[in-house]
Amino acid sequence: MRPIRPAATPAWSTVENDFQPALPDRRVDLIYLCYPNNPTGAVTTRAALQRWVDYARAHDAILLFDAAYEAYIVDADVPHSIYEIEGAREVAIECRSFSKNAGFTGLRLAYTVVPKETRGRFADGTVSSLNALWHRRTAIKYQGPPYLIQKAGAAVFTPEGAKQVRALIDYYMENARIIAEGLRAAGFAVYGGRNAPYIWVRAPAGVTSWDFFDALLTRAHVVGVPGSGFGPSGEGYFRLTAFGSREQTQEAVERIRKEVRPVGSRPASIRRP
Ligand SMILES: Cc1ncc(COP(=O)(O)O)c(C=O)c1O
Repeated sequence: MRPIRPAATPAWSTVENDFQPALPDRRVDLIYLCYPNNPTGAVTTRAALQRWVDYARAHDAILLFDAAYEAYIVDADVPHSIYEIEGAREVAIECRSFSKNAGFTGLRLAYTVVPKETRGRFADGTVSSLNALWHRRTAIKYQGPPYLIQKAGAAVFTPEGAKQVRALIDYYMENARIIAEGLRAAGFAVYGGRNAPYIWVRAPAGVTSWDFFDALLTRAHVVGVPGSGFGPSGEGYFRLTAFGSREQTQEAVERIRKEVRPVGSRPASIRRP
């Protein structure tokens, strides 16, 4: 296969572009898309995905679509799978996980869809089925997950499993609503938290992600992830998650509201202990 080189202008996903990165400005081999997105909680539209599929088809590229948070989608117009898009089966691979819908993070179970139609081009120009390559690699290197865990995975698709998954997700999404609405009411600029379990919070003007982390830790005793840890576009942002208990989520929001001032304040408004 051709070596993969980063695009000259990386296609970042930011508040400014509404979390819809521009198409690459030169040909790339592999494009990773994650919607609903970790860390921003952003979602995309069918029209935007169609542009990516059309680009991949026109430029001989492969899309790697990470749908780990698909189960958190509630709005009818948000696509659940890349295969809802015309032409996607020829150019797209989709990753799915049991970690975030059914709490299998410790059990470790996931699956990848590699349609038979997908093709990869080697450096000498020859074309090969990605499904055949994937199958050969997986069959040689992996024995498959333990039977017990496969049975647990199958249970997720039973009516009772689906009911339990729904209840778990609804619980987390109420946490997401409490965080997003609570911080928004306090004047913070907040993104995500709907169709995704992540809340992307803007630090006060001029405050870095790590300074915001320190302030939250030392003043409010709340821990989250500095946005800059996800890449340069995350600088000045902070990620909170809905994966907590209701009581702790409510208390964390209250403490942040009391101890840390929102966007528009000067850096000094993060009061040091
Ligand atoms: C976007 C995204 N994709 C994939 C994963 C990994 O899922 P798994 O636990 O199946 O490895 C995560 C886990 O945090 C994630 O956030």
